[in-house]
Amino acid sequence: MEYWKRIPDKEVVKEGVELAFAALRRHVQARPKETWVGLSVAAASIFIWKYGQDFRHRYFAWINNKFNHMKPQEYEDFKHKVFTCLKDLTSHDPKLKEEKSLRILEIGAGIGANFDKYPNNTRLIVADPNPYFEKYFSENKANFPNIKIETIIVAKGEDIDMVESNSVDVVVTTLVLCSVTDMPKVISQIKRVLVPAGKYIFVEHVHEWDRNNHRIRRFLQDILTVTGFWPFIFDGCHLNRNPLPVIDAVGFSNVSSNQDYAPLPVWWMKVAQPHLRGVATK
Ligand SMILES: C[S@@+](CC[C@H](N)C(=O)[O-])C[C@H]1O[C@@H](n2cnc3c(N)ncnc32)[C@H](O)[C@@H]1O
Repeated sequence: MEYWKRIPDKEVVKEGVELAFAALRRHVQARPKETWVGLSVAAASIFIWKYGQDFRHRYFAWINNKFNHMKPQEYEDFKHKVFTCLKDLTSHDPKLKEEKSLRILEIGAGIGANFDKYPNNTRLIVADPNPYFEKYFSENKANFPNIKIETIIVAKGEDIDMVESNSVDVVVTTLVLCSVTDMPKVISQIKRVLVPAGKYIFVEHVHEWDRNNHRIRRFLQDILTVTGFWPFIFDGCHLNRNPLPVIDAVGFSNVSSNQDYAPLPVWWMKVAQPHLRGVATK
């Protein structure tokens, strides 16, 4: 009861509000420029806070589509090497085995940049958290009628619990692990969904390994990532990661990989030239 009595009556509250508004009005009249700058910064912050992620997703899907059309054939050939193992695989699913096709899960599929690497009749499951890729993915898919989409999951690779354990023959990630939030979780999910002896194919850009000859690149990768500049522009991409120790730690029966410099088309992309390519077998 004591507590309630301390609440001021309505008149006092009204007077206080009027005084505050009068002070604000005087401030605005005395400093109109600063007020506009303050209001604009506040409005921009609210906009970025509410729509920033959405805007970045839209912009990234658009820019990724543009980049994919710029990638030279040499880069595709560079990627292609690890996909050659697909031709010797047979599906664990008797029906698909009969059809000589495979069930593949691609995590972070984007616009579907790897359609051309998949065998005829591939049953493809894709998972990607960015819904704005859908338009580009569908446009691109129209050129590959030989691939059958089984499921499209709009979710992070960390959150693909809906994909049954031991159910897919192959999992693919290309240029994805640089952006994931929890790499050990994604790679554990990959191992979980693969059938025994299933293959995990990865092509990822990584932290520069040659500290003697390419220390400037290594420095740029660190500075661009640590300042948040590169992750901001490229939707969470980190230039200074190396997924190999994580892949090894998750415990595949065999991991075969190599590091090499990828042929990338423009000078500023050289920061992402060091690549890791490989195949891990469950
Ligand atoms: C640089 S793009 C690569 C797209 C495509 N794989 C390629 O090779 O062109 C990165 C992709 O990873 C996706 N991505 C980002 N975070 C992810 C996560 N946590 N799980 C799965 N995919 C993710 C993005 O939406 C985007 O499609």
